[in-house]
Amino acid sequence: MSAVSIKEALSGRRPEGSEVTVKGWVRTRRDSKAGLSFVNLSDGSCFDAIQIVVPNTLANYDSDVLRLTAGCAVIATGTLVPSQGKGQNFEMQASAIEVTGFVDDPETYPIQPKPHSMEFLREVAHLRPRTNVFGAITRVRHSLAQAVHRFFHENGFYWVNTPIITTSDAEGAGQMFRVSTLDMANLPRTEKGAVDFDKDFFAKDAFLTVSGQLNVEAYCLALSKVYTFGPTFRAENSNTSRHLAEFWMIEPEIAFADLAADADLAEALLKYVFKAVLEERADDMAFFVDRVEKTAISRLEHFINSPFERIDYTDAVKILQNSGKSFDFPVEWGVDLQTEHERFLVEQHVGRPAVVMNYPEQIKAFYMRMNDDGRTVAAMDILAPGIGEIVGGSQREERLELLDARMAKMGIDAAHYQWYRDLRRYGTVPHAGFGLGFERLVVYTCGLANIRDAIPYPRVPGHAEF
Ligand code: 4AD
Repeated sequence: MSAVSIKEALSGRRPEGSEVTVKGWVRTRRDSKAGLSFVNLSDGSCFDAIQIVVPNTLANYDSDVLRLTAGCAVIATGTLVPSQGKGQNFEMQASAIEVTGFVDDPETYPIQPKPHSMEFLREVAHLRPRTNVFGAITRVRHSLAQAVHRFFHENGFYWVNTPIITTSDAEGAGQMFRVSTLDMANLPRTEKGAVDFDKDFFAKDAFLTVSGQLNVEAYCLALSKVYTFGPTFRAENSNTSRHLAEFWMIEPEIAFADLAADADLAEALLKYVFKAVLEERADDMAFFVDRVEKTAISRLEHFINSPFERIDYTDAVKILQNSGKSFDFPVEWGVDLQTEHERFLVEQHVGRPAVVMNYPEQIKAFYMRMNDDGRTVAAMDILAPGIGEIVGGSQREERLELLDARMAKMGIDAAHYQWYRDLRRYGTVPHAGFGLGFERLVVYTCGLANIRDAIPYPRVPGHAEF
């Protein structure tokens, strides 16, 4: 007899009559008058739970089986037999049930066999993985991450692990979390009264990274095709359904490449991962359609089958201005597009994903390449119907004089970026890359309403428990 996952037990690969052991957590228990208990057991290996039919002839039937409630942990041994139940091929006739953990107080166990609101489940982030919906999100998230790595590996990219702690503000937006070992109650001061960061661990003011881009650029200018995929931190005080203080970002970087090649790469990556998830996670995706968002699958299919529209920022502004719609934020050339504008463009104007390119320099980061018009930079945002911006990227300024001029104009101290400037001094090449927010990808894939449900433990203003 062998221990198998519930996925394996239900797969049909084990012949009828096989004796197996499965291990998991009870979803429900129902007792029949005929002296049988039906225990639904889930181990997260697949969407379905297995039905375990337990006869009252087992020695521990009264003492253990009749005490089983939602959440109890059980090891069940028995025979796989065809199931009468609908939607399930196999069930188990148990010959032994071992309970490794009862639920102390079933009344207070928060995960009951009924739909709970996502808001409620956020309050029990340590137990929400036991629900259908979080089991499905977790498996989809896993498949997306695996597909991202597979895509890059198959296309000759190397994965570079960029640092979490850094002294550079890669986005120049001042949204960094400080990392310090200093005693806050007794901060060392310089003669002028400023905090003396020379006395801190790194002998400098250090932060959690807002992007691995600058570091990955250095590897790009040696290994040609690279990417980083890791945790990213932003102290933007946006209490929205699209922002997290801690999120994961996928950032590829390609050498000898321009913005058009960058947009092509992003399009290929997104389509590849959506295809992979539709193939690998058909059961979880079907659940999202049923219970979360009815277009979850058709939306992804539409995405995969649509060539992305490419629009110049300047044209996008004209489209919005001529749309006859009154937006909460008025549109004019030189301002950044808000989610309402982005969604109008892709949902009502083009009807498919779009790449908006060539933004005004004053609203974009210092490292983006100046276009010949002298007022826009080679930046792109990819907008998806139903969510808005999902990718932000650019061709990088590879010309030192222009990079320096841009930094000076933005008041950025070039001394902090000497190593980054070196990349322009020693064998510079045109190069480009982008950032894809991993949780935005999960939100879009599953049709979730809030990004806080796309990561196991969301960090947002005021919340870092669990
Ligand atoms: O547009 P952003 O700020 O670009 C960068 O960080 C570049 N360094 C990327 C690059 O070119 N290598 O962020 C990129 C993406 C956004 O499109 C969005 O998907 C996600 O990161 N993102 C967030 N996701 C969740 N919560 C937040 N607070 C996010 N901020 C950005």
